[in-house]
Amino acid sequence: MSKPIDIVIFGGFGDLALRKLLPALYRMEVAGLLPGASRILLASGSAGTAGKDLAAVRDWLGKMLTANESADSHWPAFSARLQALAVDVTVDDERWVHLSELLNQRPLHERIFFLAMPPDVFDETCVTLSAHQLITASSRVVLEKPLGHDKASALEINSVVARYFSEDRIYRIDHYLGKETVQNLLALRFANELFEPLWNRQHIDHIQISISEQVGLEGRKQFYDRTGAMRDMVQNHLLQLLCLVAMEPPNKMLAEQIRTEKLKVLQALRPLVDHDIARHVVRGQYVRGVMAGQEVPSYAEDLGKDSDTETFVAIKAHIDNWRWSGVPFYLRTGKRMRQRCAEVVIQFRALTHNVFDATVGQLHANKLVIRLQPDEGIQMVMMAKKMNQVDMQVQQVALNLNFHDTFANFSSDAYQRLLINVIQNDLSLFAHVQESLAAWSWVDPIMAAWRRNEPPMQTYEAGSWGPDASAALLHRDNRAWHNNGFNSNIRNLWR
Ligand code: BG6
Repeated sequence: MSKPIDIVIFGGFGDLALRKLLPALYRMEVAGLLPGASRILLASGSAGTAGKDLAAVRDWLGKMLTANESADSHWPAFSARLQALAVDVTVDDERWVHLSELLNQRPLHERIFFLAMPPDVFDETCVTLSAHQLITASSRVVLEKPLGHDKASALEINSVVARYFSEDRIYRIDHYLGKETVQNLLALRFANELFEPLWNRQHIDHIQISISEQVGLEGRKQFYDRTGAMRDMVQNHLLQLLCLVAMEPPNKMLAEQIRTEKLKVLQALRPLVDHDIARHVVRGQYVRGVMAGQEVPSYAEDLGKDSDTETFVAIKAHIDNWRWSGVPFYLRTGKRMRQRCAEVVIQFRALTHNVFDATVGQLHANKLVIRLQPDEGIQMVMMAKKMNQVDMQVQQVALNLNFHDTFANFSSDAYQRLLINVIQNDLSLFAHVQESLAAWSWVDPIMAAWRRNEPPMQTYEAGSWGPDASAALLHRDNRAWHNNGFNSNIRNLWR
């Protein structure tokens, strides 16, 4: 086990801390993964005021843990580690002296500073941490996305933090990398001889990476309206998934090697400029629709005003390298979509040579569907003989691997995984500064074109699969979105 640590969460009573970080830390307590006398300090400008104390943490644990988990069993041990501290990151006053005294009581503890706050206060926070000499040689800083709103602001934020922490002490969170099924992409590709020889332009027709959500604004109106789907999902989660699917095998599963390979993918993304953007990018905003039989308001109604923020993005991307030349990657994400579903679909090429005659039925190309969530699993779609028939007839069938059946009690808490890695000093599931900047370089020109209204915003009904233009993006290439099997005759095989 690692050395005891002090985790200071700035924004300690914020949404992220209460919904994600504290449940993850509690689960680590239950699993015995918090080293020795480690402490968790919840620093917040409003700590100590109404509802901002440890009772609030207890309440949130009750809400966020699943029915099988108990917020009581380990609460005494967990709460003994917790302290709520009134610290305003924008005011260097005696409250910082208090934080400093607390940390200095345990000089042997390693320090993790989790900045669960908007990036515009990272600067002041780092300056004050440094002024009070709280940053020791082993201290790490954890940064939440979005890191900036474009490349220039990301550069600025990164350069501020880099004045106080070296790159190997900076953990940029992309919680998708903490998901078990996302890490499994590496196992699938690099622990099986089967796939790697086929994982290239010779055998793959195209790849789809899609994260569709049913939720809308979820009480984050201002944040979301400033951010939009491109900055919230594409610049980070979708591009990180793309990297894991497309990267070359690292020679070892080590942080530096993995991050180097991911960066090469981002650098090889073909820039989308001028008329490419109108042809290859769709942005949309949801309007009223029906979901699960209920009328759902439009984005403007949810927000309370008109807005030109996109809640949907679809992009046809290309990676200009030897492996992927000519293979389109269709990326898509949206809020208020028909189904919640994150998946990667590897569509293989049509059969090289058909030995059957037309009477056997239609031959479909193989497809590997990697379901990241929910109903996590892998489906290999292939052709088989129709059984119990004298004549040779073929039909599409699926080999299903359902992780819930294969792994008892399978659950995935991405933040728990990531926090464990921070404690263990393992950067492999975190983005390097160069990755973040390369991703911004690719999305910036698209967002610049949007500011000129190119292409114009499309609408889509809440509860649909997105704007018509998104379906058209693939139809033009004689392809279709997989849509969780909705347009396939094997959709019922998932569970
Ligand atoms: C977050 C975005 O990073 O990811 C949210 O800010 C989004 O808008 C969420 O809903 C999706 O994460 P998950 O794990 O629920 O798929």
